[in-house]
Amino acid sequence: MRLKILVTGAAGFIGSHTTDHLLHAGHFVIGVDNFRTGKRANLASALTNPKFIFCELDVTEESAFTEIVGQYRPDVIVHLAALVSVPESIANPALNDLLNFRTTRTVAEAARLHLVPRIVFASSAAVYGDPTHTPIPENGPTLPLSPYGSAKLASENLLLEYASRHGLVVRCQRYFNVYGPRQDPSSSYSGVISIFLDRLGRNLPATIFGDGEQTRDFISVYDVARANALAATAPGLASGVANICTEKEVSLNQLWQLLRQGFSEAPVPLHVPERPGDIRRSCGSTALAHDSFGFRSRISLEHGLRDLARQCSIE
Ligand code: UD1
Repeated sequence: MRLKILVTGAAGFIGSHTTDHLLHAGHFVIGVDNFRTGKRANLASALTNPKFIFCELDVTEESAFTEIVGQYRPDVIVHLAALVSVPESIANPALNDLLNFRTTRTVAEAARLHLVPRIVFASSAAVYGDPTHTPIPENGPTLPLSPYGSAKLASENLLLEYASRHGLVVRCQRYFNVYGPRQDPSSSYSGVISIFLDRLGRNLPATIFGDGEQTRDFISVYDVARANALAATAPGLASGVANICTEKEVSLNQLWQLLRQGFSEAPVPLHVPERPGDIRRSCGSTALAHDSFGFRSRISLEHGLRDLARQCSIE
């Protein structure tokens, strides 16, 4: 069935890939973005598709956003607009609160008012804080270490409360560390893979925070876009949370070694003190996403990095 799906943060990294995936599957997409960090270039393909409508709009403008939802009455809202960086949430907690919590309320209220039956929300592995063991199951303890993780957890709770009181379906996608094309490396708040590749491409030393033995579960943005599409469109889904990850635990030092293989010369990385709010270990269980909506990651880190490095060298 073809659905009408509103995507917030549509010009962003995960948003634009999700938009492309949904359009490719034949759905109608209403993309919303204010270009705070998103880029029009990310929508180059979507903008040529007659099933895509773009609204330049800030989700923090509550009445304008609610009006758009009322105008299009989508079947699903995929809420991806966010502040994405853990250290930025520590540097600017008020902005984190606005973008990672208050916009969630705006989306939930607009959905309630205009009877939108489903919301898919960009949550995060940061809700767990430091896990007692890996791979982390969704029912593991949630003890965030940053304003970012706290706001994502508060947003999940708010949405699940709306789901139980107002009968809509809410899917909270706990993304682990997402990488791939269109991830912007230009800020110190950017994702580590985009920063490392950028440094390697310019023959500059990368910086590793701490001893580099902290671990992450890196997932390709193509897998994440597919997981979002499944959560948005699978019929008969109940509300709930799900890890979106690969179940592979990789240290920063291992990541660096994998990445540098593609470069003949790579300056030795600089080690600086650990970053505040940094999680020591992160790797999620994939069982629930598979049982709930048939999702399992398909792209290995080795393959995803090779593909990404090739695309970077072509550009
Ligand atoms: C990332 C995501 C966040 C997501 C979360 C899920 C980004 C920017 N952040 O947070 O949106 O919800 O995963 O777990 O995509 N590091 C270095 N050198 C650098 C940059 C980073 O050593 O130049 C280290 C960090 O200290 C950290 C690791 O790399 O240990 C990952 O950092 P980062 O890519 O910023 O992601 P997270 O903080 O894990």
